[in-house]
Amino acid sequence: MGVPGVFTEYARLVEQRLERFVSEQDAPEILKQAMLYSLTAGGKRLRPAILLEFYRVLGGDPADALPAACGIEMVHTYSLIHDDLPCMDNDDLRRGKPACHIAFGEDTALLAGDALLTLAFEVTTRVSSAISPQAVAQAVRLLAGAAGMSGMVGGQVLDLQSEGKQITLEQLQQLQEGKTVALLRAAGQIACALAGADTQLTAAAEEYCVCIGRAFQIRDDILDVIGDTKTLGKPVRSDVQNRKNTYVSLLGVEQSAQLAASLTAQAKAALQTIGNCENLGILADALAGRMQ
Ligand code: IPE
Ligand code: IPE
Ligand code: MG
Ligand code: MG
Ligand code: MG
Repeated sequence: MGVPGVFTEYARLVEQRLERFVSEQDAPEILKQAMLYSLTAGGKRLRPAILLEFYRVLGGDPADALPAACGIEMVHTYSLIHDDLPCMDNDDLRRGKPACHIAFGEDTALLAGDALLTLAFEVTTRVSSAISPQAVAQAVRLLAGAAGMSGMVGGQVLDLQSEGKQITLEQLQQLQEGKTVALLRAAGQIACALAGADTQLTAAAEEYCVCIGRAFQIRDDILDVIGDTKTLGKPVRSDVQNRKNTYVSLLGVEQSAQLAASLTAQAKAALQTIGNCENLGILADALAGRMQ
């Protein structure tokens, strides 16, 4: 994706720690295998990267927040496992490998998702003891809110309910705010909570994450049409097949791309309030042109 080395380093640290968090648990081997299968399959590690980089920019040591970064990646990976199930998007490829339910069966995939969701909260509480218990509680609350009925799960319901139906641009935005933006926004909010950032910095970080999140899902919609399976690591034309409402189905590729570009510019502008955010600016641009 052409991002600064710091993000590659975050991905490495997160992957190492994710593996440890799951392996050290006393749990059925097949469940651990299924969780690790999806967790270690790759992925851009975008949510942890945003969390750790904001935490660093706000004066913290990323190592202290690493468990929270793992927590958000666990929630995200669980959402992908469930999203691919036959009762949802029915996709058989994820992160370049057979989807979890193809490799382990629907029952184990469902439970691997459940276990990742709950483990996410457990590990989030294991951030450095240098971080105040109040800040940790706030991080857990933010993660739960973003993952749940008024966040990702709510958005997934709207996504499924509107298959094959005509919805407005406003409804599409609401759907995507839930299924995708909520968790990305939480990455910034959690970093701010853990770092003890003031309201002005938190608002700016949130603005960046919301704009990035909206642009990210628009790009995801575009890639379903113009991308290729090998680079993306997931099936293309899945949205078309499932008669999903997407930015492409409502606005077409060209107009969707314009909207994503203006959201990217808005995200970068939000960083000016914070300062020292060059890496996050470069990340915004890299995401705008991503092919995977
Ligand atoms: C895919 O997320 C699902 C969406 C919210 C669009 P990512 O594109 O971040 O997936 P990975 O983590 O890189 O596999
Ligand atoms: C899924 O959106 C968002 C979540 C998994 C919560 P999509 O269904 O568009 O994601 P992909 O395209 O399968 O990755
Ligand atoms: Mg979906
Ligand atoms: Mg999907
Ligand atoms: Mg998609």
